[in-house]
Amino acid sequence: MSKLVVVDHPLIDHKLSIIRNKETGTRLFRQAVNEVGGLMAYEITRDLPTKEISVTTPITSTTCKVLAKEVVIVPILRAGIGMVEGIQILIPTAKVGHIGMYRDEETMEPHEYYAKFPKELPESSVLIVDPMLATGGSLDAAINAVKSRGAKDIRFVGLVGAPEGVKRIQRLHPDVDIYLAALDEKLNEVGYIVPGLGDCGDRLFGTK
Ligand code: PRP
Ligand code: URA
Repeated sequence: MSKLVVVDHPLIDHKLSIIRNKETGTRLFRQAVNEVGGLMAYEITRDLPTKEISVTTPITSTTCKVLAKEVVIVPILRAGIGMVEGIQILIPTAKVGHIGMYRDEETMEPHEYYAKFPKELPESSVLIVDPMLATGGSLDAAINAVKSRGAKDIRFVGLVGAPEGVKRIQRLHPDVDIYLAALDEKLNEVGYIVPGLGDCGDRLFGTK
């Protein structure tokens, strides 16, 4: 079974309280989502493989470690975009692939409407990013999309997850570790995470 890591940090807790608050406006919401993405990046990348290189300092030659593989960040559109910049602050060389997915509000089934990935995807460490892991349908489809293009080393980064979605991904993709800022209580009858933060895409982009 894959690993579930709920990243525990006072700054993440503090920013989550801003994100969850329904009175928080678009600008502050977007800023806090990005900042949590950045704080999580440190933990998510902890076990990335490194390789040794030789470096000449102003004093002498020494051996240093650098990332062994490229990193590709794959936000699930739209809401995933909200965490990308924060992660890129720590990994500025990361390439970005995009996958467009929306949930049918009646059936909760995901529908893919866009996909574009860098050619390095198969040999890269892939970080799929989406603030919300609810039923897990969108993430399952996104993982299948990158796997079908050759990706093998895949992690998921989210803000808030529901136990239902976590279980589904762990069952279907035991090779994909899950990193969340919070594991919430449940889904409600219309598939929203409780207590959650509402519709993340709408709150990020001011569409409601
Ligand atoms: C939201 C969210 C996830 C998905 C999670 O996207 O950003 O992609 O729902 O739900 P699931 O786990 O049940 O699939 P939404 O479909 O609202 O699209 P948007 O990001 O464009 O608003
Ligand atoms: N998508 C959201 O934006 N919020 C939820 O609570 C569930 C899915």
